Formats: sequence, C-alpha cells, structure tokens
Amino acid sequence: MNNVTIAIQADAPIGTISPRLYGHFAEHLGRCCYDGLWVGADCDWTPHEDGFRTDILEALAALPTPLLRWPGGCYADHYHWRDGIGPASTRQVRLGMSCGLQVQDDNSLGTHEFLALCKRIGAEPYLAGNMGSGTPQELCDWIEYCNSSVDTTLARERAANGSAQPYGVKLWGVGNENWGCGGNYDAVTYANEYIRYATMLQHVDPTIEMVACGLEDEWNTVLMKALKRVPSLIQHISIHRYWWNGGPEIDFSDEQYYALLAEAAETEKLIISTEAILRAEMGDDHKVGIALDEWGVWHPEARGWDDGKGITPRKPTTYEQAGTLRDAIAAAIALEGFHRHCHVLSMANLAQVVNVLHAPIMTQGAKFWLTPTYHLLRLHTPHLGAEALQVQVTSPPSLPDETPAVSATASRTTDGSYAVTLINRHLTELATITLTGVTAPSVHSAQILTADHPRAVNGPEAPDNVAPVSITVEGDTVSGWSLTLPPHSIASVVFGA
Ligand code: AHR
Repeated sequence: MNNVTIAIQADAPIGTISPRLYGHFAEHLGRCCYDGLWVGADCDWTPHEDGFRTDILEALAALPTPLLRWPGGCYADHYHWRDGIGPASTRQVRLGMSCGLQVQDDNSLGTHEFLALCKRIGAEPYLAGNMGSGTPQELCDWIEYCNSSVDTTLARERAANGSAQPYGVKLWGVGNENWGCGGNYDAVTYANEYIRYATMLQHVDPTIEMVACGLEDEWNTVLMKALKRVPSLIQHISIHRYWWNGGPEIDFSDEQYYALLAEAAETEKLIISTEAILRAEMGDDHKVGIALDEWGVWHPEARGWDDGKGITPRKPTTYEQAGTLRDAIAAAIALEGFHRHCHVLSMANLAQVVNVLHAPIMTQGAKFWLTPTYHLLRLHTPHLGAEALQVQVTSPPSLPDETPAVSATASRTTDGSYAVTLINRHLTELATITLTGVTAPSVHSAQILTADHPRAVNGPEAPDNVAPVSITVEGDTVSGWSLTLPPHSIASVVFGA
C-alpha cells in the first residue's frame, strides 16, 4: 500500500482549461463517419436524426464534445468540399482515400451535415482544409461558402442548400501532416506554401483561426522562422502524437502496461519542446497556440502495416481496436499534462471519435457501447472551462521504474467549487490519499473508474463491464480529505459549497 499526500495549491493557478482541450476528431476513415456517426438519412435499422445515429448524438452531447475536427486526417488533402453539398442525388461519388484505404465515398456526409451535427451536440466545428490536392482558391471558396455574410453567389448557394445565415466557422486547418500524406513537403516549401494560403484565406475572413501543420523540432523551427515576418498568419501550430509501444491491445504484459503509460506521459514533453520553439522564434509574448489535433493510442492490431515486433495487424485493415481500462488510464495521464500546459496548449483532439483508433464510442450494427475512455473523459467534465491549479503530490517511488504511482490534477471554477482527478497507475497496490488545500466544504460527487484488471474492456455483449461507481471521501477543509484508490484506477472528486 502507498500512502500519498496531495496538496492543492489554490493560490497557484496555471491558466484556464479551455474546453477545446477536450476536442475530438472525426475522419472519413474506416467506420468513424460512414457506418459510425453517419448511417444515412434513409437508414431503417437504427434510430437516427437526419442520418446521424441517435445513440451517438446523445452520448457525444452528454460527454460533452466541445470541439470536432473533420474531415481528416490524411483524408482532408484529397477532400473537395463541393463534392459534399447540394441534393444527395447530385453529389459526386469519389474515391475516399486515407491511410492506405480506398473506399467508395458518396459524399452524403458533407459540409451542411457536419455543421448540423456540431450544432446538435454543442461542438465547435474545426474544418481541415485541403492543401495536398487542392488550391488556395478552393479553400478560399469553402470559407466564403461557410462564413460570408456578403450576398455573393457562394453565399446564395449556401442559402439555397439550407443555411441563409453564415456558419461562422472559426477554426481552419491548412493541410494535414503535409510532411507525409499531405504532400511530402519539405519544411521550407510547406512554410512558403502555408504563407501563400494563409494570406489569401485571411482576406476572405479575417476572423478565422488558422492551424498550420507542424511536426517536431526541425520542421517546427523552420516553419516558425518563416512565419516570424508575418506572425498574424498563424494562430495554432498542429502537432500529432500517437502511442505505439504498449504491445497487444488486450493481452499486454505487466511491462507493456507500464510502457504504454510512460509513453502517454511523454506527450507532455512534445508540448514543452514545441512551446520552447515558439518562444525562441516568436518571443515570449507570442500568440500561437499548440493544437494537438490528433492524439491517443494506436495498437499494433489496428495498424495498416506490420512493425515486425511480433503482433500481426488484423486484416482487412479497419483501424478499429479494443479500448481497455489501460487506454483510459493512459488518456488520463495525458490530460494531466494538458492541464499543466493549458497556458499554451490551445486544443487537443482525441483520435478518433467513433469506432476508429482510441475511440470513446463503438458500434457494431445496431449495437453501441462506450469504452472506458469515454467514462474517463466524462469524469473530467468539471475541469472544462475551470482554472487549472498546481498540485504537489508526495508519493513513494513504487513503480518498477522508481517513479510514483499516484498523480493528480485539480481545477477551480469561478463559483469556488474544486474538481480533483487522481490516478493510481500501480498494477497491484492500492493507495491511501490525504488531500489538502481544498477550501470548499463539501463533497458533491466522488467516482472511480477501475476493474479487476487493466485489460478489462466493454463490448457489444458487456457494454457496462467498465463503468464509474461512487466512492467514499471523508474529511473536512481543516484536516484534509481521505480516500482510497484501488490499483489501476482513476478517481474524480468534486467539492463545492
Ligand atoms: O488518425 C489516423 C491518421 O493518422 C490520420 O489520417 C493522419 O493525420 C494520421 O497519420
């Protein structure tokens, strides 16, 4: 057993936890959009609202889903927005391409459908534009079509297709992974091309926020050096981080369990190194946010390639994987880092929202279930929009690599309530916690997410195998609060008046 003290530093705020840090990503890949979110307006085998599955809509609205990125991913650099507007019968049937898959894409889920989805679930839309096979004019036209209040032919076309009012989409990606699937650019060429695109896009709508494609150190340095002379052309730099090294999706060893959690924790280092480049190139008062617009675990079974480490990818490739309690703990570890860097991290989108990769929601035919990661995200809801606070954890170094098993993140809302989320990574040992520094006098809710083993999953026949349950938290503001964390668990406690 580990005895741990956690001191919330109520006088040491880090910044506001933007709801955009709890964003999601919906790509036209596998069954994320088609046969996932979207079953089509004529579907008669599952309840839907104008083509979107009702069970998914309700789950996403409840999560909540403050931000949704679409339509890619690699798909974005093949996507031509005009294919997805107008009467369904006139839409182009195209080759849908992303990550090596080629499918028939009837474009029935297009701009108006996606923006209606966002409205229904309360999400801010983030449209990823095509640089790889598009033109600046094509992307200018998409922005004009969505946002212009001037009575132009494109605005009239939008009105004729159902939206007289401009949509006011703020977030626009200028390409995706353009160092790879989005055109195999070198950094200098991308930077110059980005400046050309961004200049033209900003003329169409000066209020948009543009997201440039980043990577890691060298690429980001070259990009920011180029943008130094035109800093108003970049609002966010996109970085992606997948975790690869946790072994099998379910039958992982103890070592692999800890390896995945350690890799998730490393995500914070990418944010730190990206921030260092922004400061070095743009100065300490720069306004560029870091958009971690794809993140999560990508298990070997769900890859389109064999990495030669002994786990054969499933065929055919669907990019679908089991989501265990381990994956939820890994996500919780990453979220702690997001809170610690909320002063510079401007958004984070889990990849992907339904069925594909680290999905919080899965479907199989009419069946539907929530993964442990869904529950984990829901436990974090009180942090959205709250002020992140520094947390001092005193925990023995009880993990195999001599690091502490317990960590925590805390926030405070303007009405004085506190949310504290705690993780016990240890595979076998429980932890007793003493929590101090919370000035709110009562426990409003206390829940825990755990299972017999971190390999536990939910599935079509056992949708509630892993789900949060209530726990007891005792104490007061003077002597502190105490609770017990079982091994491999995540707890969420909300204190209020
Ligand atoms: O999320 C799957 C893919 O991963 C995306 O299409 C791409 O951006 C990334 O490589």
